[in-house]
Amino acid sequence: MTKKRIQAVLFGPQGCGKGTQGQLLAERFDVPLIGAGDMLRDEISSKSPLGAILQSYVMSGLLAPDEVVNAVLAQRLKKLDLSHGFILDGYPRNVEQAIQLDRVTKINLAIYLRISDAEAVRRLTGRLQCVRCKAIFHIRDVPPVKAGICSVCGGKLAPRDDDNEEAIRKRLATFHFMTEPLAAYYRQRSALLQVNGEQPIPYVFEDMVKKIAKLGFSS
Ligand code: AP5
Repeated sequence: MTKKRIQAVLFGPQGCGKGTQGQLLAERFDVPLIGAGDMLRDEISSKSPLGAILQSYVMSGLLAPDEVVNAVLAQRLKKLDLSHGFILDGYPRNVEQAIQLDRVTKINLAIYLRISDAEAVRRLTGRLQCVRCKAIFHIRDVPPVKAGICSVCGGKLAPRDDDNEEAIRKRLATFHFMTEPLAAYYRQRSALLQVNGEQPIPYVFEDMVKKIAKLGFSS
């Protein structure tokens, strides 16, 4: 079988491990990881006019308007070299965004990481992220070596502003209504790969890598 380069999107409920598994996959397949949420939060920090529109949506856990997200992502994707493959985490989040993305680049794999809502709430209320390099930890499941300090770069660890229970529940409701239909969209295009995200991190990763290898993608 001819080996293909991975041109993947990762989706699933909030807390399913998109960011965590995305980092591991990007290393294994030697491709860039593009995190939509991180890009939107960077846009907000840059105090640009688009960032000002995004702020209230992102902080409250609502999906930001398609036109704004598509514009920010298009601007930032243009600056990256996608010719050797990539993993997109958190974009698209609805069928309209998937159609828009198909106009920009070809997606040959859509990984759906599945977990229950109860597990999502448990994970996100304990999440810590490095303010500098964006590495992800969990207060109990993936603790840093030194409390409050990133084990990767030594930066400060902090909870995300939208990781409060009210915003998490809103994000999960939005996922079921808006994002879950992506499974049918990518199944129709023979690109869907479903993975049980409730296993411990290394098991999720190995399960996913085995399934990806069977599909003929090269690392
Ligand atoms: P975004 O930053 O993408 O957040 P999200 O979708 O809410 O997803 P999360 O980052 O919360 O979860 P994750 O699946 O990456 O989990 P993680 O690996 O960190 O988006 C934020 C906001 O931006 C959205 O709410 C929206 O407003 C806006 N936005 C973004 N994209 C958009 C778009 N396309 N259109 C419109 N709006 C958009 O893991 C979570 C925790 O669990 C961590 O602590 C981790 O250590 C732990 N963990 C991970 N895996 C496991 C495991 N297997 N077992 C135990 N613990 C685990």
